[in-house]
This record gives sequence, C-alpha cells and structure tokens, in this order.
Amino acid sequence: MRVFLLVFGVGVVLVMLIAGKRGDLSRRSPIEIFPDMDRQLKLRPQTPNSFFPNGLSSQLPPPGTVAQTGPMRVAGREVYPHQDDPVNTGRLPGTTNFVELNPLPVTAQLLARGRERYTIYCAPCHGATGDGNGITKKIGAMAVVASLHDKRIVELPDGDIFNTITHGKNLMGAYGPQIPIEDRWAIVAYVRALQLSRLGSVEDLPADLRAKLK
Ligand code: HEC
Repeated sequence: MRVFLLVFGVGVVLVMLIAGKRGDLSRRSPIEIFPDMDRQLKLRPQTPNSFFPNGLSSQLPPPGTVAQTGPMRVAGREVYPHQDDPVNTGRLPGTTNFVELNPLPVTAQLLARGRERYTIYCAPCHGATGDGNGITKKIGAMAVVASLHDKRIVELPDGDIFNTITHGKNLMGAYGPQIPIEDRWAIVAYVRALQLSRLGSVEDLPADLRAKLK
C-alpha cells in the first residue's frame, strides 16, 4: 500500500510537471488532430518578404479594382469612383445637366485611344465613319442605327454622349460595364473628330494651306 501511494504520488507530480507547465507563452501552434484550416500560409502586414519583387507584404490593388472609398486617378486627376464628378457622371455636380465639354484634356494621345476603342466597340453598329452603316445593318441584325452625323446628335453636349455610352439608349445597350471611364471620354472626343470631319470648311484651314488648295 505504501509503495502504491509513493508511486502514485510521484506519478501525479510528474504529470503535473510535464502537462501543467504553462510558465511561458508559445508562438507554436498546439497539436491539432483536425486543423480546420485555422492556420494558413500568409504574409502579415508590414512583414518583409522575398515573395513579392518589392519585398512589401502590402501590395497595391490589382488594376481595375473599384475602390470603395479611396481616390482613383483619371488623366492625372484624383476622382472618387462614386463621387458626383463630371468625369464619372457626364453631368454638372448636383444637377442633371450634362457637361458641355469633355472634362479630360483632348490630346492626340486621347484621340488615338478613342479611335482604337471606337473601332472596337462602336464601329460594328455605327460604322467606321459614324454614319450608322456598320456590319450589323448589312447582316440585318439591327435595322436602324443612329447616324452620329445627325444634326441633333452633333448638337448634343459631350456629357450626353458619355451618358449614352455608359447607360445605352433605347435599342443601344450600355457599354459602361465594358469600357473604362477614361476610354469612354476618349471615344467621345473621337466621335467629335468624326463629326468635325464632315462639318469643316475651307475657311477652317490656315491661310497657307488654303492657298495651296486653290
Ligand atoms: C449593337 C449596336 C450598337 C453599338 C455597338 C453602339 N451603338 Fe450607339 N446606337 C445604336 C442604336 C440602334 C442607336 C439608336 C438608338 C435609338 O434611339 O433607338 C444608337 C444611338 C447612339 C447615339 C445617339 C443617342 C441619342 O441621344 O439619340 C449615340 C451618341 C451613340 N449611339 C454612340 C455610340 C458609341 C459612342 C458607341 C461605342 C461605344 C455605340 N454607340 C455603340 C446601336 C449601337
């Protein structure tokens, strides 16, 4: 009996020493029979690493991310995606009036981009020159497509055309979900160039070029 008690007592002390040792904190994970994906490979914020080329664990969001709050840059201007700004809406802030002029600076680069995007997204219906005779009319998929040279459309404010691209109009679908904001304005600028190509007169030419023509 005394031997049993002795062995039992030593056993209890040993178990308490080994199992009950919680003297210091451990960063190691406990033994888990079912891990339940509690622990995963990841980078903690502000941790240097060799996984990303720039060694930072916090990376910029991938292109095309819609910021919930933060600004985005359109043609060098900071614009919040959901902000009531002419660049986003084509309208004067706080009103339903369309802006008269393209809010982006119209450069040769913007026009070239607009031409490329117009050819991809608009020319199939409106035709390469904007007269409404695209491939969809030829194959009978769309009977009437607006000519962008109509006097009424020429006189529309830039913001209205931007709005038509973004949300569509009657038979024309919305292209806002496919065409980023800056590209939509580039297309507006190119549509204006197309219209001007039919409205220009000899008087618009500089004097030396006019003389050459005659
Ligand atoms: C699938 C064919 C189709 C495509 C692609 C298309 N449109 Fe249209 N668009 C139409 C049709 C059809 C109308 C006439 C809508 C109506 O009034 O019924 C129209 C009308 C318009 C109008 C006149 C809107 C108004 O105020 O009456 C503009 C401006 C215009 N489109 C610009 C564009 C631009 C810019 C693109 C390229 C981003 C484009 N469209 C792509 C079919 C198309």
